[in-house]
Amino acid sequence: PKKIILDCDPGHDDAVAILLAHGNPDIELLAVTTVVGNQTLEKVTKNALAVGTIAGITGVPFAAGCGRPLVRTIETAPSIHGETGMDGPAQPESTIELDPRHAVDLIIDTVMAHEPGTVTLVPTGGLTNIALAARKEPRIVERVKEVVLMGGGYHVGNWSAVAEFNIIIDPEAAHIVFNEKWPVVMVGLDLTHQALATPDVVEKIAAVGTGPAKFVMELMEFFTQTYKDAQGFDFPPVHDPCAVAYVIDPSIVTTRKVPVDIELQGTLTLGMTVADFRAPAPDDCTTSVAVDLDHARFWDLVTDALVRIGEP
Ligand code: BDR
Ligand code: CA
Repeated sequence: PKKIILDCDPGHDDAVAILLAHGNPDIELLAVTTVVGNQTLEKVTKNALAVGTIAGITGVPFAAGCGRPLVRTIETAPSIHGETGMDGPAQPESTIELDPRHAVDLIIDTVMAHEPGTVTLVPTGGLTNIALAARKEPRIVERVKEVVLMGGGYHVGNWSAVAEFNIIIDPEAAHIVFNEKWPVVMVGLDLTHQALATPDVVEKIAAVGTGPAKFVMELMEFFTQTYKDAQGFDFPPVHDPCAVAYVIDPSIVTTRKVPVDIELQGTLTLGMTVADFRAPAPDDCTTSVAVDLDHARFWDLVTDALVRIGEP
């Protein structure tokens, strides 16, 4: 199996990413770390533990990380995720105890404890923890297999005309992550806006008939409404599990190697992921962008993970 650290801010779609990572047999979930984003650190951490409890995750450390971006002030997303960050379903009391380490230290410890080239970082929130980990222990950059992140977009934005939420909430952190020498796969809005939870998908998930599947359905119900009201979508794009799906089976997502950098100066373009599509990409290019999603196979992976999780 592929070893991953999931750094997230649950978040409706982050919750699905956790469930996919846990339920898929080709993934070994080494750690779940949290970062301020969709809601405050306290709330998203509580949510992560709740998802872990619902999924019956045991033996995987959960740790809380940064409570604010490197430079900017905190910006959360209640219009999409509600006041708790994961509004909709009822949440159980967590049975998982939080690891006492800071997420940045847990990430570093975990990467350094494994063979070089074996651990993939999967950030699905702002990049604050990942950027700080790279600065605190630069040796992780060579050691990490790749960074497969949900964030950005080469043609669209969602938090401004050209910027995506995870990047614009901490653009300086994103700048660090995209400019380190590790391979970065940007699973951005261009891709995730293809991962819509259409009615047929929701029906299939409902048919699984378990507690965790019901939880996902209730998440999708809330997510459908907020995406309709706030962003005019008929069906919600379920962004974060796309990054996990790429790690599981890269053939579900086509990618293209292009230089990507983060705009830090622009008054209209702050946080834009500027992708240079001029060919050929330079030999030393370490970034690639996700382009096309196999919608059916993606949702089959999510449903299959729920079937395997069963009724924990
Ligand atoms: C990203 O922002 C968050 O609201 C979602 O969880 C996802 O990671 C989409 O722009
Ligand atoms: Ca997220």
